[in-house]
Amino acid sequence: MNIAIDGPSGAGKSTIAKELAKRLNITYLDTGAMYRTVALKALLIGVDVNDAEAVEKMLPSVDLDIKYIDGVQHVYLDGNDVSKEIREHRMSKAASDISRIPAVRLKLVDMQRALAAKYDCVLDGRDITSYVLPDAEYKFFITASPEVRAKRRFDELAAKGETIDFSVLLEDIKKRDYNDSHRDFAPLTRTADSTYIDTSDMTIEQVLQKVLSYIEE
Ligand code: DC
Repeated sequence: MNIAIDGPSGAGKSTIAKELAKRLNITYLDTGAMYRTVALKALLIGVDVNDAEAVEKMLPSVDLDIKYIDGVQHVYLDGNDVSKEIREHRMSKAASDISRIPAVRLKLVDMQRALAAKYDCVLDGRDITSYVLPDAEYKFFITASPEVRAKRRFDELAAKGETIDFSVLLEDIKKRDYNDSHRDFAPLTRTADSTYIDTSDMTIEQVLQKVLSYIEE
């Protein structure tokens, strides 16, 4: 069984997906973390994330691995656990940029499909319902207003000691929405068969109950 969740950044997808996987005792796959890791590799070796040719050349040397420690997903780049580093604010834009490159997507989609075939999974991302697993048993599109999403990101970063101006975050979120939904290959889109949930005025528990009620039905 696979549960596919798509939506724009900061909509609460990963919080919901993580908790859902825990309650259903299945695997959670954060696909955004994989794009962030490829972007980190590019930044570390000085490859421009917008230079498709250079990124394609780099790809065979990207040693990306995913492991679960106490049920928590850890991402490894060249043998190093980079799970924390990829969450830095600068990585969001870099991941969004590099994810436009089809060769990057093909490499990561292969890994995602292999994991989904092997384990019962909750996967969250931008193209899971439309491209990675169009036949997933359950499909959701989770969103919230840009303002609410920017506020959530602000609080999340503040909790980690990273302070970024709210208006900058809001602009970044809008830019990323545009980037992710306007790329040529597998853009963020809401499929007709996905259940739509706007979480702007909902608590995490309310969203979870809603998702679970569809699954139990
Ligand atoms: O979910 P996130 O914010 O960690 O994702 C970072 C970027 O990665 C996002 O802006 C677009 C890209 N991404 C993607 O293109 N497809 C996915 N399935 C997941 C993420």
